[in-house]
Amino acid sequence: MDKIKIKGGRRLEGKIYISGAKNAALPLICASLLTKDTVTLTNMPMLSDIASMNALLRQLGTQIDEFNDFVDGHPSKTYSYRTAEASSLTAPYDYVRKMRASYYVLGPLLARYGHVEVSLPGGCAIGARPMDIHLSALEQMGAKIEIKNGYIIADAPDKLQGAHIAFHTASVGATCNIMMAAALACGTTIIENAAKEPEIADLAELLNAMGAQISGQGTSTITIEGVSALSGARHKVIPDRIEAGSYAVAAAITRGKIELINAQMQTLQNPMQILRDAGVKVSETPNGILVDAINAKLSGQDIMTDYYPGFPTDLQAQFLALMLTAEGASMVTETIWENRFMHVPELMRMGANINVHGHASAIVRGVKKLSGAQVMATDLRASFALVLAGLAAEGETIVNRVYHLDRGYEKLEEKLKGVGADIERIKEADELAAE
Ligand code: EPZ
Repeated sequence: MDKIKIKGGRRLEGKIYISGAKNAALPLICASLLTKDTVTLTNMPMLSDIASMNALLRQLGTQIDEFNDFVDGHPSKTYSYRTAEASSLTAPYDYVRKMRASYYVLGPLLARYGHVEVSLPGGCAIGARPMDIHLSALEQMGAKIEIKNGYIIADAPDKLQGAHIAFHTASVGATCNIMMAAALACGTTIIENAAKEPEIADLAELLNAMGAQISGQGTSTITIEGVSALSGARHKVIPDRIEAGSYAVAAAITRGKIELINAQMQTLQNPMQILRDAGVKVSETPNGILVDAINAKLSGQDIMTDYYPGFPTDLQAQFLALMLTAEGASMVTETIWENRFMHVPELMRMGANINVHGHASAIVRGVKKLSGAQVMATDLRASFALVLAGLAAEGETIVNRVYHLDRGYEKLEEKLKGVGADIERIKEADELAAE
């Protein structure tokens, strides 16, 4: 397995281009299953999760064309998806096991074909990750659902019916799935306590361009008037706010200065305010966001994850790493996932001073220095936190299990090298040759 080698202690300065958002792109791809026409997505990030979702759609009978493109002066991918007729209505275990977001085929296929079988994903490194909200909402829309041999088997032979649904938790995945299902249902669906993440509004924008009638996206009540058919559309994926927030921390933790080209301040208000409160200069530029931590003395900050527009759980690990380089104590509280401090024991191996209380809170105390070590993490964001710690540490850090990073950070080494990091990928083949 590939590794990343970092020699820490360099101040990062320059510009980093922010790619299209992984967590927006994944449901957008699945929205293409709602129509027999072509859906074209531009500004798509080049990530292994996108490749996995494309593989699943090919398996369902979607024809996918891939183009190298230039969006806003930067290389990206454009993909065209055409599912004239699905050749399978099953998302098999091997796909779902690799990527939970495979469950996004559930709503679209059930709405279009009245039947779908999706392997239950099971838990993952950050928590149990139940699907009860998705399934209960589909049942309220008239679907018959059975769990058999590890699969969700859903039927709605007489079409899904609009319903008034109140989610017990503002789930991102369930909001996307039910919005897609309701787009082709009979009548009106109202989702109360819907998720408000920017990725939801991006999906609604594509669905409306395809002919759906969705309003209220971005608020906690979304109304979807079902239509009988949807058509093709072309859509540009929004910039990745989590990637932008992650590189903002790279600037701060190395006391550097990075302009995050294409980053959208309005989607990052809460984490950027925490950076400011900690002593980093953060400003909006015509092209994105400038994060300037040169000569900054950072002070510890308390952070609590929350649903959007609160502090994103997907930036918790990165900000926790930053707080190790701040003066004083910080309390970091995780409220979304029950097991999201897996980076802590690895950071401790680098000299961190962190006390985890139960599953939800960690007290982080600033340390004089971090020192490089061999580390590994069990999820994407935790892995990036280890990269950040490596950038700030004295000496060499080796981050193992790089496949986690490849799921969600496009051209990670290239982007960090471009702002002055001493970072390289050790390919498994190179490593074997050196042995
Ligand atoms: C999305 O996951 C993201 N993934 C996650 O990012 C992110 O951490 C999460 O939203 C929260 O922002 C994608 O977009 C592909 P949820 P999702 O349903 O949709 C509970 C990353 O690193 N819940 O909003 O699966 C659940 O247990 C990933 O890029 C139920 O109880 O998250 C959790 O506590 C990791 N029942 C809360 O809701 C359900 O049926 C939020 O989960 C569904 C969820």
